[in-house]
Amino acid sequence: VRRVRTHHLAQAKATGEKFSMLTSYDHMTAELFDAAGVDMLLVGDSAGGTVLGHTTSLAITVEQMLPMCAAVAAAARRAFVVVDLPFGSYEESPEQAVRTAVRFMKEGGAHGVKIEADESLADHVAAVVRAGIPVIGHVGFTPQSEHAMGGYRIQGRGEAAQKVVDDALALEAAGAFCILLEMVSAETARAVDQALGVPTIGIGAGSATTGQVLVWQDALGLNGNKVARFVKQYADLRSVVSEAVGRYVSEVRNGSFPSEEHTY
Ligand code: KIV
Ligand code: NA
Repeated sequence: VRRVRTHHLAQAKATGEKFSMLTSYDHMTAELFDAAGVDMLLVGDSAGGTVLGHTTSLAITVEQMLPMCAAVAAAARRAFVVVDLPFGSYEESPEQAVRTAVRFMKEGGAHGVKIEADESLADHVAAVVRAGIPVIGHVGFTPQSEHAMGGYRIQGRGEAAQKVVDDALALEAAGAFCILLEMVSAETARAVDQALGVPTIGIGAGSATTGQVLVWQDALGLNGNKVARFVKQYADLRSVVSEAVGRYVSEVRNGSFPSEEHTY
């Protein structure tokens, strides 16, 4: 299999093809999603919620994310593996951003990093790009800034659309190979996609972006909490798993497992 590379994603935008990204935080899902044809795997800081049970994405650390990243990278034969720089690991200076990104490439085996940034962090993005590391700039709603943004809110409505376009343009100029748009109106996402030469990836950003991304536990219906409107559930893993586990529990209780065939 041929590895997905940044130039394939650039080419997708040029030819009007779409690409898919899904989060993954462990070896088995990475192997499954890669084999199923997902083009990009994201070791997102959403792992703070999906894996570690945090209520925000502020708490997860580089030390916690590194082994997840290494597990995903080791399983991905075709997919391009991107990892989030978590909150507190890059904001201080371009040097700090490079240091953290290098660790994820070196110890985590990532193929690129994603950085939540606006125009004011363009220097940080540029420094990471100069280190030879592909960067996705994450604009629009940026969960690491949820308290500054006043909660989970749609960005880029009305007048604010220009700020999203300006942020995306600044990160493209800094060398980002792709821009991810989270929770922006479809109209704003289209304006950003048209303004940029590089491909875009959307989550809750309509259909105009080059690619789409979802958190896998949301997309496959494993998450028991209410999911956002932009999430489409492609499976109901929660009911598959609870039914199966329920049967296991009752078969153990009533002694029908293990039977002869599962016994040495
Ligand atoms: O952490 C994450 O999973 C993300 C996606 C929702 C884009 O950043
Ligand atoms: Na994230």
